[in-house]
Amino acid sequence: MKSEFIETLINRVSCGRLTQPAPSKEHMDLLFQAALRAPDHKGLKPWQYLVYSGSNALCELGEAFLKASVAQDPELPLDKQQRMQSLPHRAPMVVIAVAKNNGHEKVPHIEEVVSTGAGVQSLLLGAYELGYGAYWRTGPLAYNERLKPLLGLEADDTIVGFIYLGTPEITMKAKPIPEVKDFVTWK
Ligand SMILES: Cc1cc2nc3c(=O)[nH]c(=O)nc-3n(C[C@H](O)[C@H](O)[C@H](O)COP(=O)(O)O)c2cc1C
Repeated sequence: MKSEFIETLINRVSCGRLTQPAPSKEHMDLLFQAALRAPDHKGLKPWQYLVYSGSNALCELGEAFLKASVAQDPELPLDKQQRMQSLPHRAPMVVIAVAKNNGHEKVPHIEEVVSTGAGVQSLLLGAYELGYGAYWRTGPLAYNERLKPLLGLEADDTIVGFIYLGTPEITMKAKPIPEVKDFVTWK
Protein backbone atom coordinates (compact mmCIF):
# COMPACT_ATOMS: atom_id res chain seq x y z
CA MET A 1 0.00 0.00 0.00
CA LYS A 2 1.46 3.35 -1.04
CA SER A 3 1.45 6.22 1.46
CA GLU A 4 1.33 9.85 0.34
CA PHE A 5 4.94 10.14 1.41
CA ILE A 6 5.99 7.27 -0.85
CA GLU A 7 3.93 8.81 -3.68
CA THR A 8 5.94 12.03 -3.25
CA LEU A 9 9.23 10.11 -3.34
CA ILE A 10 8.18 8.36 -6.55
CA ASN A 11 6.60 11.30 -8.34
CA ARG A 12 9.07 14.13 -7.60
CA VAL A 13 10.33 15.89 -10.69
CA SER A 14 12.74 18.72 -11.28
CA CYS A 15 11.57 22.01 -12.73
CA GLY A 16 14.02 24.30 -14.52
CA ARG A 17 11.46 26.95 -15.55
CA LEU A 18 11.15 28.94 -12.35
CA THR A 19 9.64 32.29 -11.50
CA GLN A 20 8.60 34.42 -8.50
CA PRO A 21 7.80 33.89 -5.72
CA ALA A 22 10.74 32.13 -4.14
CA PRO A 23 9.92 29.77 -1.28
CA SER A 24 9.05 31.71 1.88
CA LYS A 25 11.55 32.00 4.73
CA GLU A 26 9.27 29.77 6.86
CA HIS A 27 9.19 27.09 4.18
CA MET A 28 12.96 27.31 3.64
CA ASP A 29 13.48 26.80 7.39
CA LEU A 30 11.44 23.58 7.14
CA LEU A 31 13.33 22.42 4.05
CA PHE A 32 16.67 23.05 5.75
CA GLN A 33 15.51 21.18 8.86
CA ALA A 34 14.81 18.24 6.54
CA ALA A 35 18.20 18.62 4.82
CA LEU A 36 19.99 18.77 8.18
CA ARG A 37 18.62 15.32 9.06
CA ALA A 38 20.66 13.68 6.31
CA PRO A 39 22.48 10.51 7.33
CA ASP A 40 25.83 11.59 8.72
CA HIS A 41 28.79 9.30 9.51
CA LYS A 42 30.32 10.19 12.92
CA GLY A 43 27.92 13.13 13.25
CA LEU A 44 30.34 15.50 11.53
CA LYS A 45 27.55 17.71 10.14
CA PRO A 46 29.67 18.48 7.09
CA TRP A 47 27.01 20.70 5.47
CA GLN A 48 26.92 24.37 4.58
CA TYR A 49 24.09 25.99 2.64
CA LEU A 50 24.49 29.47 1.09
CA VAL A 51 21.18 31.12 0.17
CA TYR A 52 21.01 33.75 -2.56
CA SER A 53 17.50 35.17 -2.61
CA GLY A 54 16.29 38.27 -4.42
CA SER A 55 17.81 40.49 -7.04
CA ASN A 56 20.76 41.91 -5.06
CA ALA A 57 21.96 38.54 -3.84
CA LEU A 58 21.55 36.94 -7.28
CA CYS A 59 23.55 39.81 -8.83
CA GLU A 60 26.29 39.23 -6.23
CA LEU A 61 26.37 35.54 -7.18
CA GLY A 62 26.42 36.42 -10.89
CA GLU A 63 29.46 38.68 -10.26
CA ALA A 64 31.23 35.79 -8.53
CA PHE A 65 30.39 33.43 -11.42
CA LEU A 66 31.76 36.00 -13.88
CA LYS A 67 34.96 36.69 -11.92
CA ALA A 68 35.69 32.98 -11.40
CA SER A 69 35.07 32.19 -15.07
CA VAL A 70 37.31 35.00 -16.32
CA ALA A 71 40.00 34.14 -13.76
CA GLN A 72 40.02 30.60 -15.12
CA ASP A 73 39.88 31.63 -18.77
CA PRO A 74 40.98 35.23 -19.41
CA GLU A 75 40.13 34.72 -23.11
CA LEU A 76 36.48 33.87 -22.37
CA PRO A 77 34.38 35.54 -25.09
CA LEU A 78 32.10 38.38 -24.01
CA ASP A 79 28.88 36.50 -24.76
CA LYS A 80 30.00 33.64 -22.52
CA GLN A 81 30.98 36.10 -19.79
CA GLN A 82 27.50 37.60 -19.97
CA ARG A 83 25.95 34.14 -19.78
CA MET A 84 27.99 33.28 -16.66
CA GLN A 85 26.85 36.48 -14.98
CA SER A 86 23.20 35.85 -15.85
CA LEU A 87 23.04 32.18 -14.74
CA PRO A 88 21.75 32.79 -11.20
CA HIS A 89 18.84 34.82 -12.54
CA ARG A 90 17.16 31.68 -13.91
CA ALA A 91 15.31 31.46 -10.58
CA PRO A 92 14.33 33.78 -7.74
CA MET A 93 16.51 31.81 -5.33
CA VAL A 94 19.72 29.79 -5.58
CA VAL A 95 20.99 27.64 -2.71
CA ILE A 96 24.58 26.45 -2.91
CA ALA A 97 25.02 23.12 -1.13
CA VAL A 98 28.54 22.62 0.18
CA ALA A 99 30.25 19.63 1.77
CA LYS A 100 32.93 20.70 4.24
CA ASN A 101 36.05 18.54 4.52
CA ASN A 102 36.59 17.63 8.17
CA GLY A 103 39.53 15.39 7.40
CA HIS A 104 38.25 12.73 9.81
CA GLU A 105 40.42 9.64 9.79
CA LYS A 106 37.41 7.30 9.52
CA VAL A 107 35.20 9.41 7.26
CA PRO A 108 36.57 9.98 3.76
CA HIS A 109 35.40 13.22 2.16
CA ILE A 110 33.30 11.27 -0.36
CA GLU A 111 31.00 10.37 2.54
CA GLU A 112 30.60 14.05 3.44
CA VAL A 113 29.72 14.75 -0.19
CA VAL A 114 27.21 11.88 -0.27
CA SER A 115 25.67 13.08 3.01
CA THR A 116 25.28 16.58 1.58
CA GLY A 117 23.71 15.06 -1.54
CA ALA A 118 21.23 13.22 0.67
CA GLY A 119 20.38 16.55 2.30
CA VAL A 120 19.87 18.12 -1.11
CA GLN A 121 17.47 15.33 -2.08
CA SER A 122 15.43 15.98 1.09
CA LEU A 123 15.36 19.66 0.21
CA LEU A 124 14.20 18.88 -3.36
CA LEU A 125 11.52 16.49 -2.14
CA GLY A 126 10.26 18.95 0.45
CA ALA A 127 10.17 21.77 -2.09
CA TYR A 128 8.18 19.56 -4.49
CA GLU A 129 5.76 18.57 -1.71
CA LEU A 130 5.18 22.25 -0.84
CA GLY A 131 4.40 23.05 -4.50
CA TYR A 132 7.65 24.78 -5.40
CA GLY A 133 9.89 23.95 -8.35
CA ALA A 134 13.54 23.05 -7.85
CA TYR A 135 16.49 22.11 -10.05
CA TRP A 136 19.87 20.71 -8.97
CA ARG A 137 22.70 21.94 -11.19
CA THR A 138 26.46 21.70 -11.15
CA GLY A 139 28.27 22.45 -14.42
CA PRO A 140 31.85 23.79 -14.75
CA LEU A 141 31.38 26.42 -12.02
CA ALA A 142 30.96 23.72 -9.37
CA TYR A 143 34.47 22.53 -10.24
CA ASN A 144 36.05 25.95 -10.82
CA GLU A 145 38.55 26.34 -7.96
CA ARG A 146 38.53 30.15 -8.42
CA LEU A 147 34.89 30.34 -7.33
CA LYS A 148 35.26 28.97 -3.80
CA PRO A 149 37.18 31.89 -2.23
CA LEU A 150 34.75 34.33 -3.85
CA LEU A 151 31.94 32.57 -1.98
CA GLY A 152 33.88 32.51 1.30
CA LEU A 153 34.51 28.77 0.99
CA GLU A 154 37.66 26.80 1.81
CA ALA A 155 39.78 25.28 -0.97
CA ASP A 156 38.98 21.73 0.23
CA ASP A 157 35.20 22.27 0.38
CA THR A 158 33.15 20.56 -2.32
CA ILE A 159 30.34 22.38 -4.08
CA VAL A 160 27.72 19.63 -4.31
CA GLY A 161 25.21 21.68 -6.22
CA PHE A 162 23.54 24.93 -7.12
CA ILE A 163 19.88 24.38 -6.25
CA TYR A 164 17.59 26.68 -8.19
CA LEU A 165 14.27 27.27 -6.43
CA GLY A 166 11.06 29.13 -7.21
CA THR A 167 7.52 28.73 -8.44
CA PRO A 168 7.08 26.42 -11.45
CA GLU A 169 6.30 28.29 -14.68
CA ILE A 170 5.06 25.08 -16.25
CA THR A 171 3.00 22.13 -15.07
CA MET A 172 5.29 19.57 -13.50
CA LYS A 173 4.45 16.19 -14.98
CA ALA A 174 5.40 12.89 -13.37
CA LYS A 175 8.02 10.98 -15.33
CA PRO A 176 8.09 7.29 -16.25
CA ILE A 177 9.43 5.18 -13.42
CA PRO A 178 12.40 3.01 -14.43
CA GLU A 179 11.86 -0.75 -14.29
CA VAL A 180 12.94 -1.92 -10.85
CA LYS A 181 14.25 -5.20 -12.27
CA ASP A 182 16.71 -3.33 -14.49
CA PHE A 183 18.50 -1.84 -11.48
CA VAL A 184 17.95 -4.27 -8.64
CA THR A 185 19.42 -7.73 -8.15
CA TRP A 186 17.96 -9.93 -5.43
CA LYS A 187 20.30 -12.67 -4.19
C1 LIG B 1 24.87 16.14 -8.88
C2 LIG B 1 23.93 16.53 -9.97
C3 LIG B 1 24.26 17.56 -10.83
C4 LIG B 1 23.40 17.93 -11.87
N1 LIG B 1 23.78 18.96 -12.68
C5 LIG B 1 22.96 19.32 -13.70
C6 LIG B 1 23.30 20.40 -14.53
O1 LIG B 1 24.33 21.05 -14.36
N2 LIG B 1 22.47 20.70 -15.55
C7 LIG B 1 21.32 19.98 -15.78
O2 LIG B 1 20.59 20.27 -16.74
N3 LIG B 1 20.96 18.96 -14.97
C8 LIG B 1 21.74 18.62 -13.95
N4 LIG B 1 21.37 17.59 -13.12
C9 LIG B 1 20.14 16.82 -13.40
C10 LIG B 1 18.87 17.53 -12.97
O3 LIG B 1 18.99 18.04 -11.65
C11 LIG B 1 17.66 16.57 -12.98
O4 LIG B 1 17.80 15.57 -12.02
C12 LIG B 1 17.47 15.93 -14.34
O5 LIG B 1 17.19 16.92 -15.30
C13 LIG B 1 16.34 14.89 -14.33
O6 LIG B 1 15.15 15.47 -13.92
P1 LIG B 1 14.27 14.79 -12.76
O7 LIG B 1 14.95 15.12 -11.46
O8 LIG B 1 12.91 15.41 -12.91
O9 LIG B 1 14.24 13.33 -13.04
C14 LIG B 1 22.18 17.23 -12.05
C15 LIG B 1 21.84 16.22 -11.15
C16 LIG B 1 22.69 15.87 -10.12
C17 LIG B 1 22.31 14.76 -9.17
